[in-house]
Amino acid sequence: MSITELFRRKSVQLILKEAEFLDEGSQGMKRSLRVLDLTAFGVAAIVGAGIFSTIGTAAVNGGPAVSLLFVFTAFACGLSAMCYAEFASSIPISGSAYTYAYASFGELIAWIIGWDLIMEYAIGNIAVAISWSGYFTGLLHGFGLEIPSYLGIDFLSAARGFKEVTHELQNGVNFKDLNLELQSAYQAWVTAPKIFNVRLIADLPALGIVIFITWICYIGIRKSKLTNNLMVLLKVVILLLVISVGAFYVNPDNWHPFAPKGLTGVLKGISGVFFAYIGFDAISTTAEECKNPKRDIPLSMFLALLIATVLYVILSLVLTGMVNYSELGVSDPLAFVFSRIHLGYLSGIIALGAVIAMASVLLVFQIGQPRIWMSMSRDGLLPRIFSKIHPKYRTPSFSTIITGLFVAVPALFMHLT
Ligand code: ALA
Repeated sequence: MSITELFRRKSVQLILKEAEFLDEGSQGMKRSLRVLDLTAFGVAAIVGAGIFSTIGTAAVNGGPAVSLLFVFTAFACGLSAMCYAEFASSIPISGSAYTYAYASFGELIAWIIGWDLIMEYAIGNIAVAISWSGYFTGLLHGFGLEIPSYLGIDFLSAARGFKEVTHELQNGVNFKDLNLELQSAYQAWVTAPKIFNVRLIADLPALGIVIFITWICYIGIRKSKLTNNLMVLLKVVILLLVISVGAFYVNPDNWHPFAPKGLTGVLKGISGVFFAYIGFDAISTTAEECKNPKRDIPLSMFLALLIATVLYVILSLVLTGMVNYSELGVSDPLAFVFSRIHLGYLSGIIALGAVIAMASVLLVFQIGQPRIWMSMSRDGLLPRIFSKIHPKYRTPSFSTIITGLFVAVPALFMHLT
């Protein structure tokens, strides 16, 4: 292959024509998404673990001024959304940034961008599924329901936990004095059933949620959109409830000083805050299922960013108003502030919000990944079967199943770090 071939580009006209031709040949995908659905997909992908956990670390460094960091970051994301808006309106194809790169830089860069998107969507979802399992097990525990510890942890963590606890016990440490995570890893190891001397230890909830979400994605974009709209409604209602109850407990004295560690402190939270905005780009992977992609995709991206920003700014002001910012450096800041003001019963609702929020992130990324693979396959960068459209459900069925396996199997056995 020559260097020029590596950088060969496809004209926008050719990309559109090929997609149209393939559409006719296979009946194409179902165009059923409108602004409301696309905005809900955007909010689903954006508002996830970020706001339930990383907001605490950002606030502990930046103080109440972290609310402004959410505005600045939204502005930066808005600039990126403008680029997407321009591309999405001239190339309304499901390949998203991969296809845009193909048209502007050529095949090599497109190939790299395609695999970058796999890092963002599929590999990202492995981590989301593992975290989801943690929150879900916690939620069940709150309701007094327990699943056996060997079915809620990965093999390696259980093995490490067992080794560490055995070492501590030999040094005379009391089992009850060890942290709960270690205790549960040890329990998982010693209670796990064995087959041919291999312990059966796996993160079953992580597997379960990936199978469920993959099935929703497989059976059609209409079902996916209805499930997503419901999850977004629930998660926004829960966040609004948290905000409105919390607002009664705000003490404005906590907002002084506004930026206790100056600009440097505020900027320390930038990676966490950016993480909380990741996902708005995923809307563009559904371009071929939109009624009016040229208008609706850009509009929905901005609406989703706006909704997330308003929620994030108000929530950060409420949290930093309820307690002193220095106390927020915990992994679960929302539940923490409510237990601090003796409204611990709200933590069940917050945990439910987190479980729904993460499931919706999973759904949008599980929708996005197969569509990127579908576009790469149309361009010959993956086998043809990756662009096969299911005759009844009109989804990229093979790619959807492969995405499910790609995420589910590691989520079952791997450790988050
Ligand atoms: N923005 C998404 C989240 O916060 C990735 O979970």
